[in-house]
Amino acid sequence: MAKKSSIPTSDFYQHNTNLKWVVLVVSVFISIGSIYYTNILVEQLKQRERQQVELFARALEYTLNDESNDNILFITDEIIFKNNSIPTIWITREGQHQYRNVDIDESWSDERKKNALKAQINEMKKLYEPIKMTYRENGIVEDYGYVYYKNSYLLKQLIAYPYIQLSVIAIFGFIAYLAFNYSRAAEQNRVWVGLAKETAHQLGTPLSSLMAWIEVIREDPEISKKGMVEELEKDIQKLRIVTERFSSIGSTPILKSENVVLLINNVVTYLRPRVSAKIKIEVFTLSENITAMVHAPLFEWVIENLCKNAVDAMGNTGTIAIKILRGSEGKVFIDISDTGKGIPRSKIDMVFRAGFTTKKRGWGLGLTLAKRIIDTYHNGKIYVKSSEENMGTTFRIALDAI
Ligand SMILES: Nc1ncnc2c1ncn2[C@@H]1O[C@H](COP(=O)(O)OP(=O)(O)OP(=O)(O)O)[C@@H](O)[C@H]1O
Ligand SMILES: [Mg+2]
Repeated sequence: MAKKSSIPTSDFYQHNTNLKWVVLVVSVFISIGSIYYTNILVEQLKQRERQQVELFARALEYTLNDESNDNILFITDEIIFKNNSIPTIWITREGQHQYRNVDIDESWSDERKKNALKAQINEMKKLYEPIKMTYRENGIVEDYGYVYYKNSYLLKQLIAYPYIQLSVIAIFGFIAYLAFNYSRAAEQNRVWVGLAKETAHQLGTPLSSLMAWIEVIREDPEISKKGMVEELEKDIQKLRIVTERFSSIGSTPILKSENVVLLINNVVTYLRPRVSAKIKIEVFTLSENITAMVHAPLFEWVIENLCKNAVDAMGNTGTIAIKILRGSEGKVFIDISDTGKGIPRSKIDMVFRAGFTTKKRGWGLGLTLAKRIIDTYHNGKIYVKSSEENMGTTFRIALDAI
């Protein structure tokens, strides 16, 4: 059957990465724009607050210099007491600390208040140049005083606002992304499982009928003599294995303690006559009896897929080496190495994605399936252990030993 993907998959991944970049660049622009615009507002508000403090300082100067003036009441009420937002501290001519909108508890001791005010003054000095007041006595300059101030609560909020807003949006975006991914994965799962079950179901009927037919054919001595029945039986056996694989992946397979060396040898025996004679398949193991908890039909499917990929990567000649090792910490490792064209470093992360293929007639599903079988059903791991262009690739499967 001619296999030709109608979706150019490499383009699909290219578009996908491009789209990610577009989203990232747009988000960065929106963030910078929003921070920049708020900064303009912050600067304007800072200027306005400075003007307010300057007016406040002038008013203070006025009241401190000219206590007898009738306008004092107006000035104190309308200017000094109207400052309800900007924290300000000034020192009177008598050297006393005065303040407005500073967090000081009236019940504190004088000493504590003074220390707190001094700390505040230091903080304010770092932020803004204090505003100078001139103390006069009968019109003659006697001394200078300073009004210290810092940002109002409103200004502080405005400075923090874009960061809080962007963080909230980022958290929301992240949660939405996770939810979307989760629902997409769940949907893919349903399609995958449904399709597998349906395939197994549909294969079942002709398979039973073929098995009945083979018994009829066996009765015919002419055909039986030519060895046709044995060949047919082999094909039926293969069809049975395929059906079992599809039906197992469509349900939760039950794992059993199996000798993986034996299972791998089964696959190799099956594959050997089917690949070019110039491709060697070798199995290395220190023990002929290495067991792990596996589901035999699915595990064999994985090995078959990895070997087929290895054959594809090598063209006509080369060697596939399968090493079965008993690792420390109760693990069994199966390394499948080839001497093929290797996987470029930039593509290593993509090979397990559904639809990723570099082959004309590939679906890009072999490794996706292998990963699903090993990760989900066997609680194991499958990954590219090493790969070098034009030298070869090693895939590793790690399973729990028994
Ligand atoms: N041993 C290997 N050496 C080099 N490249 C590999 C090897 N195994 C996999 N790849 C790369 O990973 C891709 C995906 O492999 P996968 O088995 O998932 O799909 P496929 O072989 O292309 O198609 P199919 O669905 O028929 O298996 C391959 O197209 C190939 O580029
Ligand atoms: Mg493949």
